[in-house]
Amino acid sequence: MPVVIDPDPATVAGLLDAMPDGAHGIDSTERLTAWLGEHTDEYLVVLGPHLDLDAALATCESLRTGRPTISVVLARDLIDAGLLTRAIKAGARDVVPDDDLEAVAAAANRAHQLHVALRGPVGLAHRGKVITVFSPKGGVGKTTMAVNLALSLADRGARRVCLVDLDLAFGDVAITLQLFPSHTIEHAVGAEDTLDPSMVGPLLTRHQDSVMVLAAPNQPDVRERITPGLVARVLATLRETFDWVVVDTAPAFDEPTLAALDETDECVVVATLDVPTLKNVRVALETLDVLGIAKGHRHLLLNRADDAVGIGPEKVEAILGMSVTTQVATSVDIAAATNAGTPIVSGKPDHPSSGAIRSLATRLAGQPDAPSGAEPADAAVAAPARRFRIRR
Ligand SMILES: Nc1ncnc2c1ncn2[C@@H]1O[C@H](COP(=O)(O)OP(=O)(O)OP(=O)(O)O)[C@@H](O)[C@H]1O
Ligand SMILES: [Mg+2]
Repeated sequence: MPVVIDPDPATVAGLLDAMPDGAHGIDSTERLTAWLGEHTDEYLVVLGPHLDLDAALATCESLRTGRPTISVVLARDLIDAGLLTRAIKAGARDVVPDDDLEAVAAAANRAHQLHVALRGPVGLAHRGKVITVFSPKGGVGKTTMAVNLALSLADRGARRVCLVDLDLAFGDVAITLQLFPSHTIEHAVGAEDTLDPSMVGPLLTRHQDSVMVLAAPNQPDVRERITPGLVARVLATLRETFDWVVVDTAPAFDEPTLAALDETDECVVVATLDVPTLKNVRVALETLDVLGIAKGHRHLLLNRADDAVGIGPEKVEAILGMSVTTQVATSVDIAAATNAGTPIVSGKPDHPSSGAIRSLATRLAGQPDAPSGAEPADAAVAAPARRFRIRR
């Protein structure tokens, strides 16, 4: 999918409007190498007007020889003969005025035609992965971990990540990221059978670190109108354009959460060191077993893992019957970072908690494909469970 690069978020948003659904925005050419490393089928790089011209031409030049199948489009505010000559020499395929979105769209279209001609008409359908951050208990750190995990997976633009707030009554993902969404999942109500990437794109809000957010409704009562079928359709649609879809959930096995779990490739279960939480997490894990959800793809995140409360990680493992994947200590820096609107992995990347969350992200990113719809090893147990579909 095309990638647009410019340090100015408004310019990125404007240029993305002229791109096909699923195009991605990043703020510097520095992250382009990481993006291209993750997306070997990339066919278009649009270099925005606020990039230094020499740096933009150097990027053209290196793509010309290093990735010749990628079309590079330069969007500039001033275009003269001198610029055109330099751009052609550097290997740019098009130079367009940055405020002429029709010209930008036409250049993107030409790049796509070339891509189809080189690759052939049939491409592999994109299928991103869904990670659901879940716990049956409130206040254990689901939202904190979902937000930081999404930012870690995005790796400042290297991967395309959408964070979905499925705490439909009291979601706080947007406020945690200091976003003020004009649209939320409420605007998809009624589109269970029709939602596609072109409809879901405008409902997303862009965070500066390249994560897109599908916010929860502003009013709690809207939750009643978000059906499990809609949740399933939203996630299936987002998979088509994003590498990762991270889902924050409400502290309950409610229908939207079950619908999300049913679509989940990797499930991050958050627990803390207190007996009621551990009891509920255990019951939740047993329920996931019965439903055949994310078997072999569950990751236990022990939050506040250093609290001296008489239970340690080993005891947790014994109670829950699974090993702890990641431990995050209690830290005032985590809460302070959230309150400041800059989650810890962005605000304090060197903090031990940031390192722990990043290593979970790296582990998830390296997971082999979950057998979506396929039977887990224990097919006898799983077969009836997968029939538990709650889509309407
Ligand atoms: N490891 C930690 N150290 C210190 N504070 C933390 C830690 N993890 C989470 N917090 C803080 O705990 C509070 C609850 O966290 P969070 O909102 O992420 O929980 P939640 O599970 O999403 O809650 P809810 O179920 O209500 O949605 C927040 O103020 C958050 O900043
Ligand atoms: Mg929450």
